[in-house]
Amino acid sequence: MTRILLTGATGLIGSAALLHGLRDAPEHRWTCLVRGDSTDVARRRLATQLAKFVSTDAAQDAAGKVDIIAGDLGTIDTVTHPVLDECTHILHLAADTSWWGKRNNWLVNYDGTIALARRARQMPHLKRFLHVGTAMICGGESPRLVQEDMFPADEAKHLVNYTTTKAATETMLEEEFDDLPIVVARPSIVVGHTELGASPSASIFWMFRAGDHLRLVAGARDASIDVVPIDWTAATLVGLLHRPQLQHRIYHLSAGNSKRTVWSDVEAAFARYDGEDRTYQPFCATSDRSALRRAFSERFGLKTPVQAAMLRAMQQYYRFCALGVVFDNQRLLDEGFAPPPALPEYLDVCLDRPNGISITDQFADDLGMFDRAAA
Ligand SMILES: NC(=O)c1ccc[n+]([C@@H]2O[C@H](COP(=O)([O-])OP(=O)(O)OC[C@H]3O[C@@H](n4cnc5c(N)ncnc54)[C@H](OP(=O)(O)O)[C@@H]3O)[C@@H](O)[C@H]2O)c1
Repeated sequence: MTRILLTGATGLIGSAALLHGLRDAPEHRWTCLVRGDSTDVARRRLATQLAKFVSTDAAQDAAGKVDIIAGDLGTIDTVTHPVLDECTHILHLAADTSWWGKRNNWLVNYDGTIALARRARQMPHLKRFLHVGTAMICGGESPRLVQEDMFPADEAKHLVNYTTTKAATETMLEEEFDDLPIVVARPSIVVGHTELGASPSASIFWMFRAGDHLRLVAGARDASIDVVPIDWTAATLVGLLHRPQLQHRIYHLSAGNSKRTVWSDVEAAFARYDGEDRTYQPFCATSDRSALRRAFSERFGLKTPVQAAMLRAMQQYYRFCALGVVFDNQRLLDEGFAPPPALPEYLDVCLDRPNGISITDQFADDLGMFDRAAA
């Protein structure tokens, strides 16, 4: 019997992965660790998240099919529930993904993963522990084409605390838990869904719309960014989880050179969508912050705390965009996985679904990551 322990099922990628897994292999049993005061509360939270992808009935049905452990990642090593002893696979996605979460980044991402790895040692049937990291552990001064084995590296210059903790977690797993069957999957930047667009989440997609609205691009129009869609990420993670033999221990889940998203193609895709020609103006995200502030203030206003948080978020995102890094995905392709579509190939779906929502409202999906207290 295949039994999968999933952490992060109420998150963006975890919920998509769970729905994909239930559909793809209904005979597999899933156990989800979900925060909540009781199993009922946790199951309801899960159903609410799943309903962003499927109908309310289908979401409740899916949530009803899984075993729930109501609890926190940090104490999973103390959970004696026998269902955990049956686990054959772990898909570990739970994380504090806020960029400036400081102490909580360490508590969840690092300490929480230690607790999970300790509990995994007590799972006699465990075949694979798929730890989900992030390709952005390369930091701010990496080569343009990043390969899996280049990072984590002590000399990486992290732009945010989140990636510092994700890098340290990978190092810790390799040094202290090499007895576990750990495989590391590192998605690049997850944006939109090829069928549902931005309706499950507008996380980061709002940034493409905002950048288009400002007609500004960090660096150059022929530079690129490595993004992948939610559904491709979920399906590829579930595929990696179950592939009996893998050639490597670490895989980028990324667009790579062939499917990187080039800014001039984004510009053209927006123009195709609304029929209005535009040309993005390049600017330097580090030295020309006033250009961004001025343009932002004119287009969005800069009076409310949400507008201020959105500008802060854009300043930070543009610094990531300016890196122009691409994450090599040859390992994944060599395993027989399909490459993802580039964002311009499904941008119209993201603009259509949902239709008529403001950029500022879509930014709400990421607001928690940029709250001033955390910064
Ligand atoms: N999204 C991306 O672009 C991206 C890119 C690269 C890598 N990743 C990685 O992919 C993973 C999932 O990302 P995501 O975007 O799906 O994240 P997300 O939407 O922020 O979801 C985070 C999940 O972690 C859970 N969680 C947080 N703290 C917890 C705790 N103490 N105990 C138990 N569960 C806890 C959350 O549960 P609650 O609902 O209870 O808060 C939620 O289910 C993360 O490891 C992230 O580093 C994401």
